[in-house]
Amino acid sequence: MRTLIKNGTVITASEKYRAAILIEDEKIIALQSDPGTGADEVIDASGKLIFPGAIDVHTHLDMPFGGTVTADDFTSGTIAAAAGGTTCIIDYALQTPGKSLQEALDSWHKRAEGKCAVDYGFHVAITDLNDAVMAEIPVLVSKGYPSFKVFMAYKGVFQVDDATLLKVLKKSGAAGGLVLVHAENGDIIDVLTREMIADGKVDPIYHALSRPPQAEEEAVNRFITMAELSEAPAYVVHLSDAGALGRVADARLQGLPVYAETCPQYLFLNLDCYYEPDFGGAKYVMSPPLREAGNEEYLWNGLASGNLQVVASDHCSFNLKEQKELGRDDFTKIPNGAPGLETRVQLLYEGGVNQGRISIHKFVDLVSTAPARLFGLYPQKGTIAVGSDADLVIFDPEAAFKITQGSQHQKVDYNPYEGFAGKGVPKKVFSRGRLIIDNGKYVGRVGQGSFQLRKPFSVS
Ligand code: URP
Ligand code: ZN
Ligand code: ZN
Repeated sequence: MRTLIKNGTVITASEKYRAAILIEDEKIIALQSDPGTGADEVIDASGKLIFPGAIDVHTHLDMPFGGTVTADDFTSGTIAAAAGGTTCIIDYALQTPGKSLQEALDSWHKRAEGKCAVDYGFHVAITDLNDAVMAEIPVLVSKGYPSFKVFMAYKGVFQVDDATLLKVLKKSGAAGGLVLVHAENGDIIDVLTREMIADGKVDPIYHALSRPPQAEEEAVNRFITMAELSEAPAYVVHLSDAGALGRVADARLQGLPVYAETCPQYLFLNLDCYYEPDFGGAKYVMSPPLREAGNEEYLWNGLASGNLQVVASDHCSFNLKEQKELGRDDFTKIPNGAPGLETRVQLLYEGGVNQGRISIHKFVDLVSTAPARLFGLYPQKGTIAVGSDADLVIFDPEAAFKITQGSQHQKVDYNPYEGFAGKGVPKKVFSRGRLIIDNGKYVGRVGQGSFQLRKPFSVS
């Protein structure tokens, strides 16, 4: 099967040019100035931009957390991803204490197998380190799982101590893996949380006030120190705070292989959200929490300057009804997380490109190319090139959008960006050559998304 996309403008992380894209089965086989003939199907992309499919390297689908399970599973989550222009996700398989990393992967493969609308891979989160788990690290890198997450927060649940962090960094670094960290000082948070609850401070705002920016900055600094000692590459997930960003920038100035992602919630929302009446603040209970208004401009500068390399969603959706409500009388019982898989690309395009904060090439880099490079998927994914997967987004930069819960594909009863409007809509989305989104409608077949083995870390 040959498909030709003609008259569009191809945008990559470094180039912009008019070309006809010839796809055969799953791959791009030619990029030509002349549309030519011989295709089974021809698509006219006049007036449209063509981006490489976006890659979201931070999602939580069908994940048990906080006494409940995320509202989106691998089907609703990946259909939402596709609708938003994302053609590959990397989700987190969580180790159950006492069990192996392979068992975590087996469990997450079962959750995803046959249920995905787009391609997917897994990071492995290490919560309980022992000699057998240490021995699994190089084996998993060589099997196509080259990224490991550790949590410096969620005391008593996922949090690991410094010794564990250091050992994982050393082992992973030596094996060609990348260590990802949730960087918040869980001990500081634990003390502050207990004080607040004891004082009767139970509303959603206290979730944020019990997790101050200093707790994030301190953890980022400690993580970087240990990564330097271990001579290991290191990646901070969902970085939210200007001070923490400063630590990453300092490390990068020294030439250390330190990377960081931020998320749309920290670019578009702020602390004021927690004051939404009628328990509305619970919609924004996530970790790290939203920060003071003004913080977001530091993050935008971090994206523009290259100190932040990736924008991921940290999609972790819980319904307001029955799930977030578990913490109506105690913020510590509100499951942490918010949806964002479907809106990540459009928000970044509007806030970044349309508002003049980043170039269109930087936008492609942040949502697609850099994630592909850092997580071992490039150049099969993350660019538009002969031989690459035909994961493509035909994007109308002039079409208006307005985000509403009622029109989303995510299966969750709110959208944190309700009413946000802008310009730029993914009109058609292709996953390995197959059309899966046509004018906002999912037209693929669930199960077409395939598991992606990834290469060891190699970006300098
Ligand atoms: O609040 C959040 N971010 N929930 C998802 C789990 C995590 O910490 O990434
Ligand atoms: Zn986290
Ligand atoms: Zn997360």
